[in-house]
Parts: sequence; structure tokens; C-alpha cells
Amino acid sequence: MKIIKVKDYDEMSKKACKLIVDKIKELNDPILGLATGSTPEGLYQQIIGKYKQGEVSFKNVTTFNLDEYVGLDGDHPNSYRYFMNDKLFKHIDISLDQTFVPNGIANDLKAECNDYEQLIQDVGGIDLQVLGLGTNGHIAFNEPGTSFDSRTSVVDLTQETLESNRRFFDSIEEVPTQALSMGIGSVIEAKEIILLVSGESKAKALSLAINGEITEDLPASILQQHDHVTIIADEAALSQVK
Ligand code: GLP
Repeated sequence: MKIIKVKDYDEMSKKACKLIVDKIKELNDPILGLATGSTPEGLYQQIIGKYKQGEVSFKNVTTFNLDEYVGLDGDHPNSYRYFMNDKLFKHIDISLDQTFVPNGIANDLKAECNDYEQLIQDVGGIDLQVLGLGTNGHIAFNEPGTSFDSRTSVVDLTQETLESNRRFFDSIEEVPTQALSMGIGSVIEAKEIILLVSGESKAKALSLAINGEITEDLPASILQQHDHVTIIADEAALSQVK
């Protein structure tokens, strides 16, 4: 694991942007894995800035998002499809049909998950995966206890995650209790992973992910076994790492 310690959220976003823009320039047809949540928002703003300055084009880029809430369609402001269109895709020159987010309102959710997984395989896998970290150590929506071999599937969200994500909804009752999520097994097949972590609320989970036992109780701990992981974290997030 390579750990890049930065001062704050802004610096985290800029460092991550540089790594991603460099990767896009390096590869002919880059496949990016993208995340939602508050953590990557600054990164997406930085990327839009680089695009507007003419430094990077997304014409040949394909993206796969990690997860989506069950029951929210892409027009719902709290769906992850909406988030991605709103925060990134509509501001850059990416073709929307090259952007993939699991469909949370598919009639057959299981088939949707299998198709999603297959699609990733068909394009040759993800070159660079961006990850955030849940306060309980989850990656994507893989909650503690999820098998390290898990593949894309319908998952139940824990109370802690519902409460963390409640801030985006009018009430906790409105937070979907299930999601479609790439599995841990799927995520760690990415050739390269960048984990972004900011703020003290993530400090415990990050310290366990870096120095703790590799255990399914702390999903992000699996990253210790991946050959090409870069953690970009701010001082607050790293405050419990010895
Ligand atoms: C959500 C997402 C994750 C994200 C995590 C952290 O539950 N499914 O992909 O990394 O929470 O979110 P945030 O960045 O808002 O703290």
C-alpha cells in the first residue's frame, strides 16, 4: 500500500485528480471505476476543471460505478446515476452510453447484477478504481461481514450506513435499505485502486484498514492484499494511524 498523506480535503481531491488524469492520458481506452458520496465530489470538481482547461478528454473513457440504491431510478436526485450525471458526466465530454451504473429499478435485480459483472469482464476489467470508505470500513456497499469473494449483488445496508447516508434524504425512512453493489471480489480485480479518505469520522476505519487484521469484519482491510493500492488521506483521517 502506498499512503499519500495530505493536509486536507482539497489537497486530497487535487492529488487524486492528477493520478486519474495521468492514467487517462497513459491508456488508449481507459476503464475507470467510480464512486459516489461526499468524498469524491471535490475530485470530480477538479476533473471538470482540468477538462475545461483542455488538459484531458473523456471521449475514449468508459466508467463503471460501484453501486446504486435499490428502488431509485436515475432521475431520482438521490440515485447514484443522478449524482454522477450531475456532479461529473454532464460537465465533460464523455458519452453517457459509455458510463455504467447498476440499474436500481431493474425488474430482475439478480440478472442486472450478473449482467453488470459480465459487462466489466467484457471490456477487460477496470484499470483504475476510485474508492471511498464507510465509517464502518465498508467499500462500495459491502458491509462488514461480506465475503471477500463476493460478486456484484443485492445487499442489505446496515443501520450505521443508513444513518450516515440519511443526510442526503428528508428522513431516515426514505433511505433505501438495499443496494446493488459490486462485490469485494469484483472490486479487488481492478488493476489499480485509489482509496480516498477525509475527516476524523473515518480515522478508526482507516487505521484498521491499514494496520488491522485482514478480516471480513472490516471490508477495506482486503486492500492490504492488493498489489497496487494508493491511499490518499488527509491528516484528520490518518490521525489514528501509528
Ligand atoms: C456510501 C457509498 C460508498 C462510499 C461511502 C462513504 O455508502 N456506497 O461508496 O464510499 O458511503 O461515503 P462518503 O464519501 O459520503 O463519506
